[in-house]
Amino acid sequence: MALFPKPAETQQLGLFLLNKRLIRIFLGVAFFVLVVLGLVWRQQHDALPVLPPAPGFDEPPGFYPYETVSDYWPVSLDPTGKSTQDLCATFPKHMLSLVQPVLKMGHGEDRTKLDAQLDSVSACFRPDELLIFSDLDERIRNFTAIDILAGLPPKYYDLEYNPDIGNYLLQKELSQNGTLDKDQEATKKVNGWIIDRFKFLPQIERAWLMRPNKPFYFFYETDTYVVWDTVYRFLSTFDPDVPIYMGSPSPGRHDSSRDNLKTWFANGGPGFALSRGAVKALLRRDVAPHGQYSGPTVSEEWLPLIKDECCGDSVVGWTLWNNGVALQGYWPMFNPHPLHGIPFSDRYWCQPIMTLHKTTPKDMVEVWKWEFGQRKFKRPLLYADYWNFHRPGTSDTLDNWDNGDWDASKSGPEQGIDSFEKCEEACKKDDSCVQWNWRGRDEKVCVLARSFRYGEKREPEQRDDKWVDYKSGWIKDRLDKFRQERQCEVVEWVGPSITRVF
Ligand SMILES: *[C@@H]1O[C@H](CO)[C@@H](O)[C@H](O)[C@H]1NC(C)=O
Ligand SMILES: *[C@@H]1O[C@H](CO)[C@@H](O)[C@H](O)[C@H]1NC(C)=O
Repeated sequence: MALFPKPAETQQLGLFLLNKRLIRIFLGVAFFVLVVLGLVWRQQHDALPVLPPAPGFDEPPGFYPYETVSDYWPVSLDPTGKSTQDLCATFPKHMLSLVQPVLKMGHGEDRTKLDAQLDSVSACFRPDELLIFSDLDERIRNFTAIDILAGLPPKYYDLEYNPDIGNYLLQKELSQNGTLDKDQEATKKVNGWIIDRFKFLPQIERAWLMRPNKPFYFFYETDTYVVWDTVYRFLSTFDPDVPIYMGSPSPGRHDSSRDNLKTWFANGGPGFALSRGAVKALLRRDVAPHGQYSGPTVSEEWLPLIKDECCGDSVVGWTLWNNGVALQGYWPMFNPHPLHGIPFSDRYWCQPIMTLHKTTPKDMVEVWKWEFGQRKFKRPLLYADYWNFHRPGTSDTLDNWDNGDWDASKSGPEQGIDSFEKCEEACKKDDSCVQWNWRGRDEKVCVLARSFRYGEKREPEQRDDKWVDYKSGWIKDRLDKFRQERQCEVVEWVGPSITRVF
């Protein structure tokens, strides 16, 4: 379009400009053209991002009747006395073509957690199969942890603009001059948690760059327990070219451009999955007519937000939302509870487990081995199956033990309850109560819960000048009755929901 005349045309143009009537026509036409161009521009920009389904996905009634099979072979074996190698020989390696595992860690993290992760959930992955992203380049066993914070857009390293990055730069310096971990005083100054949020978007970019076009990417952390058999079964039922973002829903930012609609993100701890379609939607950049990128990378674009936000998982949710991808909440398949803290009840007894969070290092390794003896060909492992690991509710009362206060009510001396025995009595009187917990000495609190939890050892604690000790009990009859009545004839696969939450 010759809106801007070339020099050779200027003489002619001079004559042209003399004619006032023609000028008016020209201006009219120009105005019309501009209006049309403006409308086209607006339409294109309104169409992107696609309006996400609002306010999210509703839970469909009933359960999905997915028929799935295990790809492990043999599907199960007695794990007693078996080595990791023996167990991993049954791992369905071909499923790595379906799901790319991506483990995020930090150099400063507790190494027992990392070791437990590599001895359980990640034990069957070879170094060329698992991606490990960290805040420092280092060799871990035979894996190479990649410093995902190196090579970010320059603005990230501007200490005035983004002061928290100083923790990363200091760690790098200490590593380079050989004092990291050796000089404890200096190492203590590195706050690894505070830079964790910067890893979330770059890890998605890098996973795509290193392993492009995988149908699904599964992002998890050192203390995430992942049941790969269930992941493979479940993700096999989805079209990877549809933008899918799934995980355990947490409330995120409000979208001011859409009536302050509340958005959701996947809590990073229980892990999250992205389909190829979702990664593409997230990483899409504007391109100039000659092919050069004209827009920023996703890491660059969202730095102004990340630098002042608490957590990286919420930023992933928000950026996906802004690219037209809303979270599909799959709690409790993605469960923020640890194994010892699962509140077993009627609520999701017959549903499959995909992930757990903050399971103890010891439990991670033990339940992982145990799983090899439990797997079934035609149905995934359910909460009902995992109950068998700790068998909560079958034990006698336990001193110095805390079975928790999830889904519970509290009472005390004001209600005439001033001892462990009185607390037990109160539980027995309440038909919905299945376990109780007495917080004694100075505290005097009776906790009555509606779900069976294993819980954990808890020694007496002093807070200010007050002491508290913990004693737990379970009503075994109610557990037996419940288990007899609740046989899992159908696998209760749930649909996506952001109203069914943790
Ligand atoms: C690491 O690799 C070496 C050489 O391939 C191999 O012999 C060794 O068993 C591996 N170690 C682990 C922990 O996988
Ligand atoms: C290593 O780097 C840190 C941080 O800059 C510095 O404080 C320390 O003195 C250095 N140590 C050596 C041995 O160079």
